[in-house]
Amino acid sequence: MRPRIKVISTGKYVPPHIITNAELETLVETSSEWIVSRTGILRRRKAINEDASDMACKAAMAAIDKSGYDKKKIDLIVVATITGDQMTPSTANFVQGKLGLDHEVMSFDVNAACSGFMYALEVASSLLESGKFKAALVIGTERLTKIVDYTDRNTCVLFGDGAGAMIIEPSTAASDETYFYNAARSDQNDTLTVKRYIEMDGRKVYLFAVDIMEKSIRKILAEAELSLDDIDIIIPHQANERIITAVAKAMKLPIDKFMLNLSEYGNTSAASIPISIAEYLDQAKQGAKRILLVGFGGGYTWGSAILKV
Ligand code: UT7
Repeated sequence: MRPRIKVISTGKYVPPHIITNAELETLVETSSEWIVSRTGILRRRKAINEDASDMACKAAMAAIDKSGYDKKKIDLIVVATITGDQMTPSTANFVQGKLGLDHEVMSFDVNAACSGFMYALEVASSLLESGKFKAALVIGTERLTKIVDYTDRNTCVLFGDGAGAMIIEPSTAASDETYFYNAARSDQNDTLTVKRYIEMDGRKVYLFAVDIMEKSIRKILAEAELSLDDIDIIIPHQANERIITAVAKAMKLPIDKFMLNLSEYGNTSAASIPISIAEYLDQAKQGAKRILLVGFGGGYTWGSAILKV
């Protein structure tokens, strides 16, 4: 299925509080040198008195303000998160309230771990394609620091908080055709889990990620009948710089074909791709861009997409 969508605006929010590598050295047996050389992460953010919906709302308002968008047009909110405020109501429902949208909106959450935003974008695009909705707000938001065990050096150095948002509308233009490939498997669903805290076999996830990212990039390019020369930037899930470097090397691509910002934020799970899209567009030169998104996460889940922004 190839829904036609127009990306109206994007926005991001990260909380101001920074956790440095030096601070983590005081909590667990680690070193800044280990963290930087194994992951590329220099610092990550921590939400203090903010929930996932508060950060989501700020990212959404950044997108709304940037484009002067009439928020009353939004009639669909899809939030990707694994760290929602509560079990129910959904974080999307809280976002609806905090944005002051008192008209009828279909709002719900999607959980596909770090691939959540990829899944949410496909779901929202398909719903727009149905002709029933005028505008969708798609958000990835995570308060991962509330599920990080700060005595576990295998995980606590990796994750941070933040949110990214995108406003999309349906389109009739053939040039707005958008391509999605999202999938999952469940035979290794004990590799990355959250009961109370994130637990992970990092090495296994690493090997899976390098393999599936290359496959997902190739698959979506074939589906769209495009080559990498047609793509302005690849925006990957920001988990580990070494994973992205390994994919670039395997595909014989220069590393600057990939958006990288994980040194600043660490892994923000479902928020990492929309934060990166917003940052890329803030820095990019004027004019339409064609971007390729690629993500992976617990489950395993994974996905890729090509869209114009
Ligand atoms: O969004 C998806 C979520 N997850 C991921 O994307 C994670 C993917 N995996 C990774 O990014 C990497 O596998 C890690 C960064 C988690 C680990 O890097 P690695 O090069 O794969 O290291 P490793 O797991 O093979 O562990 C090497 C050693 C181990 O020590 P021993 O058993 O060899 O003595 C670990 O205990 O490094 C040790 N180690 C640490 N040492 C210092 C693990 N974490 C740390 C740490 N500081 N923070």
